[in-house]
Amino acid sequence: MKLALAADHAGFELKQMTIGRLERAGHEVIDMGTDSGESVDYPEYAVRVAGAVAAGSVDRGILVCGTGLGMCITANKIAGVRAVGPCSVEHAVMSRRHNDANVLCLGQRLLEDKTAFAILDAWLETDFEGGRHARRLSQIADLEKHWPAPR
Ligand code: RB5
Repeated sequence: MKLALAADHAGFELKQMTIGRLERAGHEVIDMGTDSGESVDYPEYAVRVAGAVAAGSVDRGILVCGTGLGMCITANKIAGVRAVGPCSVEHAVMSRRHNDANVLCLGQRLLEDKTAFAILDAWLETDFEGGRHARRLSQIADLEKHWPAPR
């Protein structure tokens, strides 16, 4: 899979470990920063990855910050992005099966490495079920195009 990754300072270490893990597993990884633990603002990095996912230049994206929350909020502003911040393997699996989540957000300060990697692996390996779930995702896509609705 071709994957774009980014982090802020609070997610830098987990991003680096995640990149190593993904490359060892044979994925193509594009590192969109940040490059150190020096303080930066997460929206800039979330938009880099979310933009690549929305443009179709990568298959999926992974974002890491302290909690995963700021990255997730920002990424979901980009049309076509379905970002999630699962806190368990089951949560990650359902985000793929039912929501076709295309961006995974992780919180380095909240997740133990072992848990983060279990979430990552499950999220990468699980397929979207389609069917009724595809209908619901097209309703979300309609909202992106037509909100606010004409009165
Ligand atoms: C940075 O201190 C922290 O606020 C950020 O990494 C993230 O957790 C925001 O949602």
